[in-house]
Amino acid sequence: MEVKERVSAILHRHNWDKSLLVSILQDVQAELNYLPREAMVEVSDGLGVSLSHVYSVATFYRAFSLKPRGRHLAHVCVGTACHVRGATRILEKLSKKLGVPSGTTTDDMSFTLETVNCVGACALGPLVVVDGQYTGLMTDAKVETLMGNYS
Ligand code: FES
Repeated sequence: MEVKERVSAILHRHNWDKSLLVSILQDVQAELNYLPREAMVEVSDGLGVSLSHVYSVATFYRAFSLKPRGRHLAHVCVGTACHVRGATRILEKLSKKLGVPSGTTTDDMSFTLETVNCVGACALGPLVVVDGQYTGLMTDAKVETLMGNYS
């Protein structure tokens, strides 16, 4: 199915309600893995809101991505508690392991590496969240084990 049709189905499910823009964008991202320009234009046209408004909402929330993301999404928490417990080292280790800097996606589109600020599990810091699964008290060895699950 084309992007246009997929977005159209999502708009239909939300009854073209412009007050549900955030939910609509969440569903579009869940469906397409990111928010391509074509989808944003479709949302803008469908809801009758300006494209710049759709972009401003999409760029306001960190959860949205305007760039294609990998099949797996790894978030390293860099909130204060995780930071003081070594989050930077864990991020470097993960970045080295994947061969990409934070905020980017591997060439084979398998992983996107990003940082996040406090996911509310500070006692488990440093913390890595892969596809929504938390792994806490991270060490270099645990990064190896964790990534081994995805190779
Ligand atoms: S700072 Fe990482 S979970 Fe709170």
